[in-house]
Amino acid sequence: MKIRPAKIKDAKAIHTLVNYYAQKREMLARPLSEIYENIQEFVVAEEKSRVVGCCALHVSWEDLAEVKALAVDEKYQKKGVGKKLVQACHKISGKLGIKKIFALTFKPKFFLKLKYYKISRNKLPHKVWGECIRCPFFPDCGEVPLMIEIK
Ligand SMILES: CC(C)(COP(=O)(O)OP(=O)(O)OC[C@H]1O[C@@H](n2cnc3c(N)ncnc32)[C@H](O)[C@@H]1OP(=O)(O)O)[C@@H](O)C(=O)NCCC(=O)NCCS
Repeated sequence: MKIRPAKIKDAKAIHTLVNYYAQKREMLARPLSEIYENIQEFVVAEEKSRVVGCCALHVSWEDLAEVKALAVDEKYQKKGVGKKLVQACHKISGKLGIKKIFALTFKPKFFLKLKYYKISRNKLPHKVWGECIRCPFFPDCGEVPLMIEIK
């Protein structure tokens, strides 16, 4: 299993993975165009030349980044792939000089295991909620905001 920065050739596999879970209402759907436009934000997990997981780090503000679009192929879940993807995003954030990272998720227990802690929504800048408008769950979404401060 290799964790590496995404390449443009990975975009369709990322799109398939993310939208598979979006259809199950486990995460937000993303158009292929958005994945192309933001391909530098993604890291992927590769197994036998196939993308089996993805995660993105999006810079929100001078001291804040978001871990988003995290998905692991069902066959590869519970093997530490999700954790490795999130940790790869933490490393990128650290290199950028950003120590505070948040996630909005339907899977808070996964993030709690990674030492994130729950926060109140109003701790996040308003611009963060821009994506909510196109979410099928808006305005009654059950996403939980969590944060971590990396060293
Ligand atoms: C959530 C998801 C990314 C986890 O990926 P994964 O590769 O299975 O996770 P890992 O194996 O790295 O798990 C790390 C730890 O979290 C735990 N964990 C994983 N998923 C969990 C869940 N849904 N609830 C509680 N704990 C969970 C694991 O047991 C493991 O604990 P351990 O270190 O004590 O063994 C994956 O289940 C997934 O892609 N789900 C569908 C899409 C989704 O919900 N994405 C998140 C939206 S923000």
